[in-house]
Amino acid sequence: MLPLHAKRIVLGVTGSIACYKAADLASKLTQLGAEVDVILTAAAEHFIKPLTFQSVTGRRAYVDQDLWGPEGHVLHVKLGKDADLLLIAPATANTLAKLAAGQADNLLTLTALAATAPLMLAPAMDGGMFDHPATQASLETLRARGAHIHGPVSGHLASGLSGVGRMLEPAELAGHARVALGAGGPLAGRRVLVTAGGTQEPIDPVRVIANRSSGKQGYALAQAALDLGAQVTLISGPTALVPPVGAHLLRVQTAVEMRDAVLQHAAAADMLLMAAAVADFRPSQAADKKIKRAEGVPTVELAANPDILKEVSQQAKKPRMLVGFAAESNDLLANAQGKLASKGLDLIVANDVSAQDAGFEVDTNRVILLSKDGGQEELPLLSKYEVARKVLEKAASLLK
Ligand code: CTP
Repeated sequence: MLPLHAKRIVLGVTGSIACYKAADLASKLTQLGAEVDVILTAAAEHFIKPLTFQSVTGRRAYVDQDLWGPEGHVLHVKLGKDADLLLIAPATANTLAKLAAGQADNLLTLTALAATAPLMLAPAMDGGMFDHPATQASLETLRARGAHIHGPVSGHLASGLSGVGRMLEPAELAGHARVALGAGGPLAGRRVLVTAGGTQEPIDPVRVIANRSSGKQGYALAQAALDLGAQVTLISGPTALVPPVGAHLLRVQTAVEMRDAVLQHAAAADMLLMAAAVADFRPSQAADKKIKRAEGVPTVELAANPDILKEVSQQAKKPRMLVGFAAESNDLLANAQGKLASKGLDLIVANDVSAQDAGFEVDTNRVILLSKDGGQEELPLLSKYEVARKVLEKAASLLK
């Protein structure tokens, strides 16, 4: 199932050059599974055509003319009432002022008055217009009324000047939309702690012992937890992945750093999902200078790293739900059952990393969920996001 399946978003597009980015936003939200109804203001129509939006959403895009069409008397009410989120991106200074004043002189502002869904605004305008006390007052009024305001950000502006006024990038706005739409989900009010990626253990200042974990499954878990309404802390080993919008990210390098970060946050968490591939061993003494070839082949002596999950499960104050991952190349079920018991877990996600289409680096995974109560659920080949959703839905049901 797609993350925004069955979610209805009204995307209001107003007259700013950032309109061209709104098409990308509409496309991204549609690809996430949302039903996106676009409303353009007259000024937006100068920048971009309804057809552009229709082509990416597969749905009709509305313009002011529709106000006076056959359904004109109910269109704004219907669009407003059906919406799970009203997102206006880009939002001009003019539209912000109208919204703050409760004016309703076009289809978009009428719909905004009729809507009961959360209102999200992505302002875009020249820096001076954004700084103007009138615009700031509009934003303050709207914020006080509960609107979520994201951006603008600083950078190059269409005027050729540089300053604060650029619309937040579509990918980030889509992330904020996910957080807003997830609120009230099955994990609302829950604190979820996720670890992701592999740890790196220094040999010397330039070399590390690493592993093949990409962090994809852990990042997908963090995103899925946000989509289900949780407050998420993501403790990540080194990876180039972009963290999900809304997650509180803590970067660590070594297993010991990860242990410290996990222990610091575990007491306040309701759930710990330990997806990280923690190095079991580290060089007992990292050289403080780069080891030179001329010195000959070095011997690297290893020391054991802490077993983070085991340590957490022995704490007096710990998350009510401990979820581990077992990446195995053989005897999958027996090894996973062993870890479920020895690490004091509620749930373990077993995956055979010797398969080509599951495990390290790829975007898909095939796992078996084993629970403390003896439950066993074998999932088909799924995207890592879908695996994450299933794991979290299972964990959420056990938490109840
Ligand atoms: N784990 C941990 N601390 C470690 C090693 C692993 O908390 N030092 C966690 C992993 O994040 C995972 C689970 O324990 O959730 C199982 O990890 P895995 O590497 O499969 O198991 P190990 O205990 O390291 O056993 P082995 O490597 O011998 O299979």
